[in-house]
Amino acid sequence: MSDTLTITDNRTGAQYEVPVKDGAIRAMDLRKIRTGSDDFGLMAYDPAYLNTASCRSGITFIDGDRGILEYRGYPIDQVAEQSDYLETAHLLLFDRLPTQGEYREWTREVAAHAPLPDGLERMLAGFPRSAHPMGIFMSLVGAMATHYPDGHDVSNPQSRRLQAVRLIAKTPTIAAAAHRYVTGQPLVAPRADLGFVGNFLSMVFAGPDGTVRLDPVLERALDLLFVLHADHEQNCSTSTMRAVGSSQADPYSALAAASAALWGPLHGGANEAVLRMLHDIGTADRVPEFVAAVKRGEGRLMGFGHRVYKSYDPRARLVKQTADAVFEVTGRNRLLDIALELERIALQDEYFVARKLYPNVDFYSGLIYEAMGFPMPMFTVLFAVARTSGWVSQWEEMSRDGEQKITRPRQIYTGSATRPFVPRSARA
Ligand code: CMC
Repeated sequence: MSDTLTITDNRTGAQYEVPVKDGAIRAMDLRKIRTGSDDFGLMAYDPAYLNTASCRSGITFIDGDRGILEYRGYPIDQVAEQSDYLETAHLLLFDRLPTQGEYREWTREVAAHAPLPDGLERMLAGFPRSAHPMGIFMSLVGAMATHYPDGHDVSNPQSRRLQAVRLIAKTPTIAAAAHRYVTGQPLVAPRADLGFVGNFLSMVFAGPDGTVRLDPVLERALDLLFVLHADHEQNCSTSTMRAVGSSQADPYSALAAASAALWGPLHGGANEAVLRMLHDIGTADRVPEFVAAVKRGEGRLMGFGHRVYKSYDPRARLVKQTADAVFEVTGRNRLLDIALELERIALQDEYFVARKLYPNVDFYSGLIYEAMGFPMPMFTVLFAVARTSGWVSQWEEMSRDGEQKITRPRQIYTGSATRPFVPRSARA
């Protein structure tokens, strides 16, 4: 027995032995498999990276078949129950739970960085009032690159740490500013005395007198949702963060790009799409009709299915529990009945069972956000605020990884064979 793979190339009869490590072969080991000296060598063809590991990572572990999710080795349900977002961000970024003193210092440090740089708020005036807040969020995050040129110093660990803290601290301020702008309300300055989530809620919901009444159940629920959204290994937006960062672009540009990837309805835009879907369905008795349409290929059941989870998304279970606590305070959302009926029917329908489609994190989160008073277009922005800690942690890990280089996949060329260029005057 040896940890190798023997490959016979039936085109040539040649045999190759390729090492297997951590359940993977190196794609570059395939390159030596060639039919002749002018053959480029074998590649792995993997559209959408269904079976390609792009990095080694020690941040988040997922076992999609068993529905397991861990941050730095800590099971997600334990983190969700016992930690809060800021502590989770510390864990993800530094690979360590802070001591009490470190936690206090970390909280102070993040709060100190919450205000936006001079001039960033004035950019808001250039956006239409009808703008989607996610578009504003993305733009202002990218614009921070112009305020913090030291962000380009990506080979300096001290500088990277500073940019990571700035991003974790300022994305809630940007998100709240986007919300206040599109709803025609004056901006509310960050407050260091309210805690990370309390301050965010204050910046979003404070009334004309500048104060907000924070309900501890709702504050805790949002904190928990932020914890659940903090990282999820190499998903579309995180891979974008890494890909853009791999060119040594500054992290503000990379995070703006990651946010753009998150916005799509197949990724973080799903929470908004779920709510729109529930509104469209309208009443629980129309669920069978809707599910039948999905099965005919007329649209997807948003908030269902996942590339990695082929069992119940552990985050969805925790979000569902949180919804119960939130609805006790806010009153039951009538859309919950539609969501519960959708889940009930889908989980026993052969179409969804055969494809292992279960509710994902986005299925119930929008219901909670709506109950808390967030308008639908803010849902993906909330996801982006929470995922910022994951994005910067993954970027930091990539920056330290000596094996990483600029991201540059190969292609299989399917275009025209070489042909002579015809001058415009000679074209028919
Ligand atoms: N509704 C109906 N059918 C579905 C769904 C769905 N939500 N998701 C997958 N399928 C079907 C799909 O049509 C395909 O069927 P067939 O084999 O007959 O062609 C099969 O299931 C496999 O789907 P896939 O598209 O190959 O799976 P994927 O891994 O490429 O896509 C996904 C994963 C999350 C994009 C997809 O499940 C989906 O579009 N879900 C709805 C959007 C959503 O909820 N996204 C949030 C994901 S979790 C949070 C996040 O990442 O931000």
